[in-house]
Amino acid sequence: MVQGKLEGKVAIITGAAAGLGEGIAETYVKYGAKICMVDLDPNVDKTAERIRGMYPDAQIITVVANVADKQQMIDAAAKTKEAFGSLDVACCNAGVCRLAPFEEMTDETRDFHIDVNIKGVWNTCQAAIPYMLEEGKGAIVIASSVTGDIVADAGEAAYAMTKAALVGLTRCLAVEYADRHIRVNCSQLGYARTPMVEKMAVESNPEDPESAINDIAVGVPMKRLAKPTEVGELFAFLGSDEASYLTGSQVVIDGGSTLPETMSIGTN
Ligand SMILES: NC(=O)c1ccc[n+]([C@@H]2O[C@H](COP(=O)([O-])OP(=O)(O)OC[C@H]3O[C@@H](n4cnc5c(N)ncnc54)[C@H](O)[C@@H]3O)[C@@H](O)[C@H]2O)c1
Repeated sequence: MVQGKLEGKVAIITGAAAGLGEGIAETYVKYGAKICMVDLDPNVDKTAERIRGMYPDAQIITVVANVADKQQMIDAAAKTKEAFGSLDVACCNAGVCRLAPFEEMTDETRDFHIDVNIKGVWNTCQAAIPYMLEEGKGAIVIASSVTGDIVADAGEAAYAMTKAALVGLTRCLAVEYADRHIRVNCSQLGYARTPMVEKMAVESNPEDPESAINDIAVGVPMKRLAKPTEVGELFAFLGSDEASYLTGSQVVIDGGSTLPETMSIGTN
């Protein structure tokens, strides 16, 4: 374990069984945090085992819970406090994405995104904040996206709408809790290779999903997708005291993908 910026911190991380949540959990342990890994998927236990294999001193509990269910999140936060004595950081990472043409997108699909992506973050924050108020400090890191607030592709209406909403929630909570020393920031990720993106690639190009992934990389100035642990590093910084004057921020982490002005002008 790296002696680090999250020593002494207790974090709850949602959507931690796979993808970015797994990368965030691994990075939090690397920097010395005690963590509660929350996921709908019982495989969260296997993911925790993998991290313990890398860091034998890791202090991890797991909770199988649905972020869309407020009571389950209240219980998960209570278990975290019971196991580790405090709850200092909430990484609101769990999210879903289903692509469909707008005129075919069902209300069920729309509401599924609202329930998980918006209410899930809402519930996680409401479950964690009382413990942060008790401590007199805390940090919340919300997984928004470049999608919705900055860019969008066809078929992402429900996803884009919900991810943009998280920017508003971030700003409001940052203002509301600033004088009580709870910082609230969000990440705006471009693309990382995770089960979510692999599924989107299948929905976009069922015959050749790998080419859909390669095409994402071609459009990124850094010519690659992010690794989940690279996003974990951002979450670790935002959750740590190193980010002590940062609140209400949207931090873009996209390998430059939202920067190019044209596809045709330039020297390379
Ligand atoms: N991967 C990307 O390129 C990308 C880009 C921008 C933003 N994001 C955001 O980052 C977050 C994580 O994305 P990912 O790519 O790792 O997704 P993923 O689908 O690969 O993994 C998500 C994890 O969350 C869990 N989960 C889903 N619904 C849940 C629920 N209701 N309650 C508890 N757990 C639940 C899943 O079981 C899974 O383990 C999401 O909020 C996503 O919108 C991802």
